Amino acid sequence: MTRPAKRPFAKGRQPTRKTAPPPRDVQEMEVSIADVGARGDGIAFAEGLRLFVPYTVTGDRVRVRAADGDGKGEGVRAEPLEVLEPGPGRQTPPCRHFGRCGGCTLQQMDDPTYAAWTVGMVRGALERVGLGDVPMEPLARTPGGARRRARFAALKRGKRVWLGFNERQSHRLVDLEECPVLSPRLFALVEPLRTLLADLLPDGGDADVVLTDLEGGVDLLLVGPRSLDRAAREVLVGFELERIARIAWQPTDRAAAEPVANRRPAFIRFAGVPIQPPPGAFLQASAEGEAALVAAVREGVGQAGRIADLFAGIGTFSIPLAQQAAVHAVEGDEAAVAALGRSVQGLRLTAERRDLFENPLSAKDLNRYDAVVFDPPRAGAAAQAAALAGSKVPRVVGVSCNPASFARDTRVLVDGGYRLVKIWPVDQFLWSAHVELVGLFER
Ligand SMILES: C[S@@+](CC[C@H](N)C(=O)[O-])C[C@H]1O[C@@H](n2cnc3c(N)ncnc32)[C@H](O)[C@@H]1O
Repeated sequence: MTRPAKRPFAKGRQPTRKTAPPPRDVQEMEVSIADVGARGDGIAFAEGLRLFVPYTVTGDRVRVRAADGDGKGEGVRAEPLEVLEPGPGRQTPPCRHFGRCGGCTLQQMDDPTYAAWTVGMVRGALERVGLGDVPMEPLARTPGGARRRARFAALKRGKRVWLGFNERQSHRLVDLEECPVLSPRLFALVEPLRTLLADLLPDGGDADVVLTDLEGGVDLLLVGPRSLDRAAREVLVGFELERIARIAWQPTDRAAAEPVANRRPAFIRFAGVPIQPPPGAFLQASAEGEAALVAAVREGVGQAGRIADLFAGIGTFSIPLAQQAAVHAVEGDEAAVAALGRSVQGLRLTAERRDLFENPLSAKDLNRYDAVVFDPPRAGAAAQAAALAGSKVPRVVGVSCNPASFARDTRVLVDGGYRLVKIWPVDQFLWSAHVELVGLFER
């Protein structure tokens, strides 16, 4: 085991995009970490309080500063100040930004501890709905340097641009100097982006930068500034001609993306079929994670001849499944459906735009399929799960990035007569508290 740093929780002044909350009463104490909870925080009990202590492992003895009255019934957040005695699963965090950056908050766990914790999160969520004994495949892992999509925040103060991820539960920015999880092709653009944004942003201005590593080059979506004058567009048009395939701009998060430079096709292949994602479109975060999810979904649908893929995005599952079956893809985002529609020639695949929260497929609609795949956003698919529970579809495959909402939807399916046959856990966000999974239901 590696020796713990005496003071592993780096401090520093960073610019913030919002006003900091007023200071609360605080008290320092020494605590032992009893467990690490679902958000990745260590849990300790002291002086009648339940404390949530980030960046710790079970068995750590830590000196902490606890904020008073911060817990809203669940517990109290506590800042770790010093590791007095390391727990058995502790390692030296590999990244210099650990302890501040909100991107990876579990680098203090050695690999076996981290993998066991990740699987435990899935198991725990299912236990809470009475389904803790379901068979589970081994955890599919994603290595460092594999993240092919990132959203950075940027802020200009004076002539300096800060670019990186927000601190954990904060709007303060960590100015990235390294990132062991990001694809090197994306990280190589961090410094050129700082120079670019120094030209584009006014003093005090901010923006978000979404980068996606695609075949043909990197896709860059700039969210903000609110307007782009001609000079700014010219700067963008000349930016990183070799490495960036396409640049688009959105004045705000809700506005449509406007193309600024389309240099060459930027695409991804699903089962060998090229598809051009719309700027900023959802894409599984790594090729390894995508491969593990697709393999599990394929196994889950078995020999089904007619498949509905709900919350289909740009076709991560629809396109591979359409190699073996007739697939109907349903997705709420218009640009994603259009992109999918452009790539399906020759495949037995139809695409429909539909809001599945407001207007889920009914049990009658669903009964036309031999298998249904659903992969909702973090909130889950409450309305669609209720309709599925009333259907006769023999195989249902749920994909999720949130074990808690998956467990809630699972309970609905099981109460409707489905059996949860097995789970494939997938770790796609190395060193973060996010875990993906696939579950197979049969009736
Ligand atoms: C986790 S992503 C999965 C996408 C796709 N299955 C994939 O693996 O790439 C969830 C998808 O649900 C879509 N979505 C979100 N809310 C929706 C809604 N109310 N109705 C239909 N689709 C929705 C999003 O646009 C996104 O494409």
